[in-house]
Amino acid sequence: MKNILKLTLAILKPDVVKVPFVVQEIRHRILTAGFYVVQSRSVNLSHQEVEHFYSEHAGRFFHQRLVTFMKSGPIHVHILAHPEAIQLWRQTMGPTKSFITQFEAPETIRGSFGLTDTRNCTHGSDSLASALKEITFFFPKFNYEEWSEKHEPLLR
Ligand code: PPS
Repeated sequence: MKNILKLTLAILKPDVVKVPFVVQEIRHRILTAGFYVVQSRSVNLSHQEVEHFYSEHAGRFFHQRLVTFMKSGPIHVHILAHPEAIQLWRQTMGPTKSFITQFEAPETIRGSFGLTDTRNCTHGSDSLASALKEITFFFPKFNYEEWSEKHEPLLR
């Protein structure tokens, strides 16, 4: 079980996927932060899929705005590995609120490219439980136990 902590799910949202330069820059930041990219895919989510993915936010004032945005175009999804994957990716992204982040953490992805609380470039799992759920949602055939056993030496 302990190796699963080394994975997180990262999403490049529709706002950045539309801008090839920003996609390249975010990929560069992923690699220079020290992540190993385990699997990637590009996907267009349906309304139902986005509703399901963000179901924990159902009923919040921004829910429909978030759903409309996330189904508005292709997204890039990555499984990232690192000994501190969840925490490091959240630190690399920066805080959710882009207007604040631009002043308080301008070096982060959201600080550099985020426009609003909705158009904030990226998503990252917030816990081990979320990472497991989110990885299975996008990569149903991915087997964490098997992957961890095979790649553990790479991550030391
Ligand atoms: S919380 O309160 O910590 O659970 O929420 P937070 O992590 O800040 O945000 C959860 C996701 O909702 C998006 N969000 C918003 N979308 C639209 N409008 C507003 N005002 C807004 N506030 C938060 C935010 O981008 C998060 O999306 P993900 O994809 O999880 O980063």
